[in-house]
Amino acid sequence: MAEFSFSKQVLTWFDEHGRKDLPWQQNKTRYSVWISEIMLQQTQVKTVIPYFQRFMQRFPTLVDLADAPVDEVLHLWTGLGYYARARNLHKAAQQVKANHNGIMPQDFEQILALPGIGRSTAAAILSLADNQHYVILDGNVKRVLGRYCAVEGWPGNKKVEDAMWQIAESLAPSSPSAKQVGEAPPARFNDYTQAMMDLGATLCTRSKPKCEQCPVMSHCLAYAHGRQAELPHKKPKKSIPTKTCYMLIPFYQGSVMMQKRPASGIWGGLWGFVETSDELLEQEIAMLHCASTQRIALDPFRHTFSHFHLEISPILLLMTEAPVQSKQASLIRESSVQEPLAQEQALQEESLMWYNIHQQSEVGLAAPTVKILKRIENDYL
Ligand code: ADE
Repeated sequence: MAEFSFSKQVLTWFDEHGRKDLPWQQNKTRYSVWISEIMLQQTQVKTVIPYFQRFMQRFPTLVDLADAPVDEVLHLWTGLGYYARARNLHKAAQQVKANHNGIMPQDFEQILALPGIGRSTAAAILSLADNQHYVILDGNVKRVLGRYCAVEGWPGNKKVEDAMWQIAESLAPSSPSAKQVGEAPPARFNDYTQAMMDLGATLCTRSKPKCEQCPVMSHCLAYAHGRQAELPHKKPKKSIPTKTCYMLIPFYQGSVMMQKRPASGIWGGLWGFVETSDELLEQEIAMLHCASTQRIALDPFRHTFSHFHLEISPILLLMTEAPVQSKQASLIRESSVQEPLAQEQALQEESLMWYNIHQQSEVGLAAPTVKILKRIENDYL
């Protein structure tokens, strides 16, 4: 009987069942694969498709991306979340323009050195676009290999992850030996990489894996021992704290006042509403010249980050007089000089804008901002 080959089984399955018509699988370049891989981190294929199409239409080349204002990049990212990904894409494109003549490098180490690109993403770019011999280890592949080899421990743990990289290398198709080159066709690393992603996404799913359809079921240790539900092991649970905040939304004739957030920290560089605490609520509302305006408390909601929950209470401030942005901003600064506590929170004039809900300017918005805008649009416009 022929020896069992994991990679051959996977490739044969891919030929019949793998995904071949996704937008980023057409006219693949290292640039287009890079964009799609970054978008697909933590985001599902069906969500990514329209974002990828809009992005590639607006930035058909890496240099187009490098030359664009970061606000426009963030705008095209609005709704995808994890905005550091977009900022890193932009920064990396500028580095490639400056250091590699605007062409995404072919060299693994050079790609790995770019912001936002880790080992698995670099490997995906070079294998998918150039058929280079690199294996990936994203969340889907960790699940496939973790089950296939019954790897113990949480794959986010460095030791467990290192073991998985070794397994990934050992199961990959082998390149033709020097002697065979010229006789044997080159190994299909591009298809193998895509096949591993597809296997994880379509059959070896977190819950209810479709083991009966799996091309490597006969040698899968998790299947053999009925451990699919348990493997790979989950992250040890840690409880995360809950913080609270108010978001203040001065509202005048279809526009809301927003503030640009500092470049670092949560929602860095995105536009959102002025955020404040219980203690500073009245002071902050006064600073916004809204002390006597009608207030409407919108339903509070929770936004969860990896390290804390944020309970957000939005307050709509219905202004009856035309706001004067610069006057407001300068008054806010004056009062912050007398009040050191508020100084930390002082708003910069240039960081404020009136955002017309109908016109939707091209700026990046944090997820809770989008949620609040939708509510206002539905209930108050
Ligand atoms: N997830 C990450 N990369 C992917 C790809 N190229 N196709 C489908 N899903 C993916």
